[in-house]
Amino acid sequence: MARLQEEKVFKDPVHRYIYVQDPVIWDLINSSEFQRLRRIRQLGTSYLTFHGAEHSRFSHSLGVYEIVRRILSQFERSGYGGYSEEERLLCLAAALLHDVGHAPFSHSMERIFGERHEAWSCRIILGDTEIHRILSGVSEGFPEQVAGVICKTHPNPVAVSLIASQLDADRMDYLLRDAYCTGVNYGTFDLDRILRVLRPLKTGVVVKESGMHAVEDYLMSRYQMYWQIYFHPVTRSAEIVLTKILNRAKSLYEDGYAFGFMVPAIERLLEGNLKVPDYLKLDEALMQAAFSQWLEEKDPILSDLCERFLNRRLFRYVPAEDVSGAQFEQLRDDLVAAGWDPDSYLEIDFPSDLPYDVYRPGEEDEKRPILLLGPDGELEEISRRSEIVRSISGIHSGKNQIYYPAELLEDERLPESARRLLSRGTSRKG
Ligand code: NI
Repeated sequence: MARLQEEKVFKDPVHRYIYVQDPVIWDLINSSEFQRLRRIRQLGTSYLTFHGAEHSRFSHSLGVYEIVRRILSQFERSGYGGYSEEERLLCLAAALLHDVGHAPFSHSMERIFGERHEAWSCRIILGDTEIHRILSGVSEGFPEQVAGVICKTHPNPVAVSLIASQLDADRMDYLLRDAYCTGVNYGTFDLDRILRVLRPLKTGVVVKESGMHAVEDYLMSRYQMYWQIYFHPVTRSAEIVLTKILNRAKSLYEDGYAFGFMVPAIERLLEGNLKVPDYLKLDEALMQAAFSQWLEEKDPILSDLCERFLNRRLFRYVPAEDVSGAQFEQLRDDLVAAGWDPDSYLEIDFPSDLPYDVYRPGEEDEKRPILLLGPDGELEEISRRSEIVRSISGIHSGKNQIYYPAELLEDERLPESARRLLSRGTSRKG
């Protein structure tokens, strides 16, 4: 397959340089569907907690591509290669495009509209899109193969595990990039060392035993990032306000409310009837323009929620571990009696529904565990060998919290008992 006459280079804060030698990859990067990722932040609402977290899915996707490119060339150099040009391109294209189906503020959107981004990535790759035309130029059925790797149905386990295992290029890039952009000190690990100890087997990618400590470091960094960044309660608070905006807009739409501002793509979204062309119009620029227009809406709740999101008047939170289901129901009733809509102004949150976990030794969620390769070719799951990994395995529940607007505490219409419940413990401002 042809190479570009002159190699293209992107300057990157994490990998220093990202190299592109294939015309197909270059064309994919320049497609409108891939350029859209510049308008979607990698970390959703985290920028409201860590102001540096403005990096986009575009930079992350290039980073994942670069890591896979380096892994493949490492395999080549150490004699584990033997991949055809088309297989190489398959891995690179899948790495580059794995997040192309991300919605704006993905996790909140996924929660409300119930579809995962991988499904959209595949629809975009297989639909009437520039990406589809570029991939079709490689060979017949090539778009289907790329979609198969992303949706984990492709028969090549090495290709799938490069972007979808518990030690994959996706996770390696976002940990380093998120740590760099949020400005935290943890979250780093020796990427070069890990890339050197990866080995492709017929069943997928494994780690040479001597690389165990580098992988421990990577998992510790996941552990730290998970608690300090991904589960941060202020980020959750922003996500909850965002979710409430979308829910309110959806229920107004279903009641036939006449919006002062509406565009067709958002209408299809609220209707639950999105097709690829509308989906591609949704980005964070459009959503934020809508929120800013909705400040003027007649519906006071929608306009108030938008104001809270845009001006970062987020919800406060208190721990909810000791709050019973009955107490929470009572709280909802108290809000109704005081004239507040609990669907829009109260939330009990279980962060364990976030798509992050530190490490799982099992094969749940189709994410392969990390296997160590011994000198005689024997394989052992890493938590059986490493005490550090064992101690952080399976951790996936965060702290339950109740989120609510600070004004509730001052509202005399609410019974004293409700206000006491909300102001207990370490109540903090969002
Ligand atoms: Ni990703």
